[in-house]
Amino acid sequence: MNKFTAMLQEEYDVHPVQIQSKQGGWASLAFEIKAGKAVYFLKVYEKNRASTPKLTALIDQYVPIVEWIEHNSNLKGRIPVPMQTKEGYYKCDDEENIYLLYPFINGKTIGEQDLTEQQTEELAHIIAALHSFGEEIPFPTGALTEDFEVPFIRELEKVLDYSEEHVPKELHLFLHENQERINKWITNVKELSTKLKSASLNRVLCHTDLHHWNLMQAENLLVIDWEGLKLAPAEADMMFLTSEPYFKKFMEIYRKYHKNYHINKDALTFYQLKRKLEDIWEFTEQLLYEELSTKDKDEIIGYLKELTDLEN
Ligand SMILES: Nc1ncnc2c1ncn2[C@@H]1O[C@H](COP(=O)(O)OP(=O)(O)O)[C@@H](O)[C@H]1O
Ligand SMILES: [Mg+2]
Repeated sequence: MNKFTAMLQEEYDVHPVQIQSKQGGWASLAFEIKAGKAVYFLKVYEKNRASTPKLTALIDQYVPIVEWIEHNSNLKGRIPVPMQTKEGYYKCDDEENIYLLYPFINGKTIGEQDLTEQQTEELAHIIAALHSFGEEIPFPTGALTEDFEVPFIRELEKVLDYSEEHVPKELHLFLHENQERINKWITNVKELSTKLKSASLNRVLCHTDLHHWNLMQAENLLVIDWEGLKLAPAEADMMFLTSEPYFKKFMEIYRKYHKNYHINKDALTFYQLKRKLEDIWEFTEQLLYEELSTKDKDEIIGYLKELTDLEN
């Protein structure tokens, strides 16, 4: 019996006949579950990963909103909603993992590929519809509302100042070489954070992780991986699109829904820098707190170098 079988039976009343490992994302493991005629996608967050608590903390807040949007907009079939357990929860867990179960999407992840014109149009319609929701949605949104805090920066600064003990040698070397650059980004983000806190920007529902690995082409284009759902300035999503070759086309359609929208440069720069620092922090966290093979460590240092090199 596969180790997930009992959980699927007990929690979801799903009786798997085949469980197959799939390529997951950065944050989670993925499995295709066949049960009779039904096929499911099981997303597994390992509790020993440093990133898991942050990524799973708001599941109970955001999933009901995603489900509600799916029913109350033209986004039906465009966004996957996790299935409920027998007891009506959107996740379940055991000693090792946190689980979310979805209907399986029979399609292709966009990943490294560019978007076609058709896909660009579909994406623009999806994001424009998403951004038409704001504070008025009938849900408590306190936990999901952007406050322009950047909580991980204090921890990153501790590592940069070497006041954190046990910094592995490879990480020490990398940080030493890039300290000045990273500190400059930190200073900029802090300044923008203060400025944006008092700027009273309009907040809309944003996905906040809108890269091509979170887009799938099935019968139509789907946006997946909604863990980052936030009530935030639209730039939280625009930051993924501004440097894409299709951005102009995207905006032509987006502006049909949001006629007066103009990019706020401060918010855009804030999100770009915050994302870069957050990626640096998440890789740093892995090197500090997770048990890794030499190959894993080298790979992570490689990613860290890419993140800092791009700014040359
Ligand atoms: N419901 C689904 N059906 C089939 N494949 C999926 C489904 N959801 C995600 N995937 C695939 O798994 C990958 C990782 O899923 P994702 O939700 O983005 O996880 P992560 O949070 O780890 O990035 C996606 O890039 C996609 O290829
Ligand atoms: Mg993803």
